Amino acid sequence: MKRTDLSANNISKCFLQPGEDRLLYVLEDMDFEIKEGEFVTILGPSGCGKSTFLNILAGFETANQGQTFCCGEPIKGPSPERAVVFQSPVLFPWMDVKSNIMYGLKQVGKKKGEAQKITAEYISAVGLEGFENYYPCQLSGGMQQRVALARSLILNPKVLLMDEPFAALDAQTRYSMQQLLLRLWESNRQTIVFITHDVEEALLLSDRICIMSKRPGRIIEEISVPFEWPRPISLTGSGDFSQLKSHILSILLD
Ligand SMILES: Nc1ncnc2c1ncn2[C@@H]1O[C@H](COP(=O)(O)OP(=O)(O)O)[C@@H](O)[C@H]1O
Ligand SMILES: [Mg+2]
Repeated sequence: MKRTDLSANNISKCFLQPGEDRLLYVLEDMDFEIKEGEFVTILGPSGCGKSTFLNILAGFETANQGQTFCCGEPIKGPSPERAVVFQSPVLFPWMDVKSNIMYGLKQVGKKKGEAQKITAEYISAVGLEGFENYYPCQLSGGMQQRVALARSLILNPKVLLMDEPFAALDAQTRYSMQQLLLRLWESNRQTIVFITHDVEEALLLSDRICIMSKRPGRIIEEISVPFEWPRPISLTGSGDFSQLKSHILSILLD
């Protein structure tokens, strides 16, 4: 039996609406569980509370009700074992690619020589050799997201929390980033929670898809993705793929 890496039991979250003294109920009685090494995508309509939920798992927000656990321990705040990748890459504009990627290693006190060696491995893993001395403003959006991914992975987190990380990229770059993520996942087997609004992306990447309801959000359906690995892009043209895609869309658009 695989270990449960993250779980949320009966989570509810509301926010005070700005300028009013009314509450907005964003999540209600949300349950979620992910096992070690599993890749789960969360799909849901815009505004249903996906980012709020991810922020609760990351420890940036706290739920008003319910519990969250990481490897059996209550989540009390952010931790390097739960790395987060956002839609807009969060990089230090004043640092070049290698310093951005190496940053976390310095924070945890790695010696310079070793930190440089590990950084070089990650630069190569995300295909940024030759761009070590570039600053974020000198990179394309896809390259910036590669730096952000390497920055998160370099501390070897148990869990990767990704909030629509490829949504702002053009179709070709998105595809190459998806392939890169799958290659990294194949070798490191992090546990991945990946938010997307793109049904095809969810079907190409994940073991399991959780579909959320409209706000207040909770999971209304879970689907085990039946396709074998590797999943070539041609899979998107198959009958089984289209059928599952329309089933998911019908739930989302309901
Ligand atoms: N800090 C906040 N204060 C008030 N309302 C918020 C806050 N964060 C999110 N919300 C509201 O919660 C709802 C869900 O937001 P979010 O989790 O970002 O949705 P999603 O990621 O599914 O599009 C939205 O209506 C948003 O306005
Ligand atoms: Mg969001």
